[in-house]
Amino acid sequence: MRTETPQTIYLKDYLPSPYIIDRIDLKFELREVDTEVEARMVITRNPASAEVNAPLVLVGDALELVSVKIDGETLAADRYTVSPTELVIRDLPDSCFCDVVTRIQPQTNTTLSGLYKSNDNFYTQCEAEGFRRIMYYLDRPDVMTRFSTTIVADKQKYPVLLSNGNKVGEGDSGKGRHWVKWVDPFRKPAYLFALVAGKLVVLEDHFRTRSGREVLLQIWVEHGNLDKCHHAMASVKRAMKWDEDRFGLEYDLDIYMIVAVSDFTMGAMENKGLNIFNTKYVLARPETATDWDFGAIEAVIGHEYFHNWTGNRVTCRDWFQLSLKEGLTVFRDQEFSMDLGSRAVERIDQVKTLRSAQFPEDAGPMAHPIRPTSYIEINNFYTVTIYEKGAEVIRMQHTLLGEAGFRKGMDLYFRRHDGQAVTTEDFVAAMADANGADLEQFKRWYDQAGTPVLRASGQYDAEQHCYRLTLAQSCPATPGQPEKLPFHIPVKMGLLGIEGQTLPLRLRGEAEAIQGSRVLSLTDAEQTFEFVDIPCQPVPSLLQGFSAPVKLEMAYTDAELAFLLAHDSDEFNRWDAGQKLAERVLLALVADAQAGRPLQLPEHFTSAMRQVLNNEQLDPALAAQALSLPTEGWLAEVMEVADPDTIHQARQFVRRKLAQALSADWLRHYQRLTQGAYVWTGDASAKRALRNVCLSYLCAGEQEQELQRAHEQFMQADNMTDQQAALAVLANVAHPLREHALSHFADQWQDEALVMDKWLQMQATSCLPGTLEHVKQLTQHRCFTLTNPNKVYALIRSFASANPLHFHAADGSGYHWVADQVLALDGINPQVASRVVSAFNRWKKYDTARQGLMKAELQRILAKEGLSPDVFEIASKALQA
Ligand code: TRP
Ligand code: ZN
Repeated sequence: MRTETPQTIYLKDYLPSPYIIDRIDLKFELREVDTEVEARMVITRNPASAEVNAPLVLVGDALELVSVKIDGETLAADRYTVSPTELVIRDLPDSCFCDVVTRIQPQTNTTLSGLYKSNDNFYTQCEAEGFRRIMYYLDRPDVMTRFSTTIVADKQKYPVLLSNGNKVGEGDSGKGRHWVKWVDPFRKPAYLFALVAGKLVVLEDHFRTRSGREVLLQIWVEHGNLDKCHHAMASVKRAMKWDEDRFGLEYDLDIYMIVAVSDFTMGAMENKGLNIFNTKYVLARPETATDWDFGAIEAVIGHEYFHNWTGNRVTCRDWFQLSLKEGLTVFRDQEFSMDLGSRAVERIDQVKTLRSAQFPEDAGPMAHPIRPTSYIEINNFYTVTIYEKGAEVIRMQHTLLGEAGFRKGMDLYFRRHDGQAVTTEDFVAAMADANGADLEQFKRWYDQAGTPVLRASGQYDAEQHCYRLTLAQSCPATPGQPEKLPFHIPVKMGLLGIEGQTLPLRLRGEAEAIQGSRVLSLTDAEQTFEFVDIPCQPVPSLLQGFSAPVKLEMAYTDAELAFLLAHDSDEFNRWDAGQKLAERVLLALVADAQAGRPLQLPEHFTSAMRQVLNNEQLDPALAAQALSLPTEGWLAEVMEVADPDTIHQARQFVRRKLAQALSADWLRHYQRLTQGAYVWTGDASAKRALRNVCLSYLCAGEQEQELQRAHEQFMQADNMTDQQAALAVLANVAHPLREHALSHFADQWQDEALVMDKWLQMQATSCLPGTLEHVKQLTQHRCFTLTNPNKVYALIRSFASANPLHFHAADGSGYHWVADQVLALDGINPQVASRVVSAFNRWKKYDTARQGLMKAELQRILAKEGLSPDVFEIASKALQA
């Protein structure tokens, strides 16, 4: 057991820092065993602080102090106390120079936080609290400082030396060493500091901003990867242009650098002028990266670039405000992808993430509002709630205020807060003030956790020709929040007439009707909206474009859902109606299977799917989405008690039945959608998506001829999208072609780490018997290592979070193995360990036997001596719930 329980940090305890750091000049002596960090800081009292005689408390993490001076004088021993986590200095003058020299060990740093090595190069990761692993500092986002950085290192081993801002000098330091000095003209919190040193090659380009600034663009990668940087570079230029066009925001330095590193915990990091990326979100060629990868790279490049304004120029006052920058920046990257691609298809992907990952989080032991009020380890709060639900909360403001109103709010936000560290309240105030809007009740979205349930019911009055729509809301209790107040929910909706036409909408009392859709504001627990001049019983299309992150409940008939799938003018809702229909069919089959009744696929569902497939008017990307069944994970979420075996059985049954019933159609479209050489365009990737859905159904019956077809596609594909899709099919069948394809793939791609991640992931998510044993063997494969997060995510996290059948094996073998991995990872990289252990969070969803097995593993994890606060927080909260 731990000797002491980690501390909880509370929002209510926030106080301004007693000191500010006006400037810092840093010098890094990078060496082969340890690194010395010399800092000269200009420190003054903070006029905004009420604490007059407070000591200066600089925080550290695993640090060794070499020396400390105030105004050039070595400090007497009674003026300070020091430990690996703190340097406390008493009796400071109102303003002083403070020189601190620290020694650190980047070579043995496996946490990937602070300064660390990856493939012989040096990199930093400082968000959220990594800077304190580099030196003693006021490591909090509201301390914004001007930085200069001098890097000294061996010239041969580390020819490239990068940091934030502009390069102002370089030279020789003798003994084979050289130096480079960087100055960042913008104040920034320490979490945006970055340093990179090593052997790297660069792809360069230029962008001219609309006011005429010439910006040098650089993408730095390890040798051998230059040919995979062109898509990333094109994405950077599109992002810069888009932010100018849509938000009037320009880049503000003469140079913008991206560095790709293979060992990285998250996707990427927005360090000022020097973004550091996981290689996964930079490197792509058609042969090695899928359409999904190309889209994700564009989105993540956009995301980090957009942070320059939403995050860096205006930053967070404290980490409780994390969604201020993350929710807003996700909203911006989503809009970027939607403006460049297909709005409906992008929206579907966003909502799939929200439902499959955020809704479960909001219903589980880690449920937290997008502005939390407490945390143990801030790294545990880089969540789908903060990011994706945070983006939904921004999107709702956009929906309520309209595009022009939202833009006015953004403009005011920057006018008021450029250069400041602010709160989510400041953001909402700018939106409200710029529009004269009342967002008081809306702000509850920032404070209340949980997914609201929106119950809708309609009543047609044939005599009065009116339609009454009643909307009622409620929100389940979450840890620490037993009662909830009503939210302000924007409900975008329309009414469909008999032929599927959209009816004009006039509320009783209004002078004129609105053509098409409108946004209703639900603010009470229950409200009725009365539409007049409705000629006949309509079918309501509710929550169009998913206008609020809620669970909609409406007692549609199957026929109404099929009607919406065929006719809704809102493409998102067409897809959603199809998913709802599929969910019903699947849940009914699960119930039949549990009761031992024979399974039968309803004809209405087959015919709805046939109509979608054969509707060549439909965007193929939308068709591909509509023909994909809800995942096993989602079905588990909507069941009272999840039954992973039966869910798998029912879903496979539906796939096999659809494969048979529509066999000629799948084949015809598979053949029709053949294309020439690979291009990454919306049109081409839409066709590939649908064609690969066809392939997957063709193979669902596991007939020899169809498996040969998949194998042929696998062998002949000139791009990873088609090769991976075929391999994913084969990885789930017990057939010699599976072994052949997997080993062929491993030989073909053994030198491409990111492609080998796909290989690991496809095996980890296989439904075949023996998958766990196979996964255990893969941990011994030479491409696998526990120290690389991408490998851990591909093999271990995929197994735990995307293979419900085997993770939830009734004998507990899946749980036991994953818990072993968590314990091993905890000593290497606690942030990664805590992402893996989160797979146990939904233990309450399962039967008592599985609950017991999962709880036992959580207890075993908690019993580990010296367990990290990261894993402690997740595991202990899971058990408390
Ligand atoms: N701010 C980064 C982003 O969203 C997230 C991030 C990158 C991060 N690396 C991290 C968060 C390490 C915590 C720890 O773009
Ligand atoms: Zn971000």
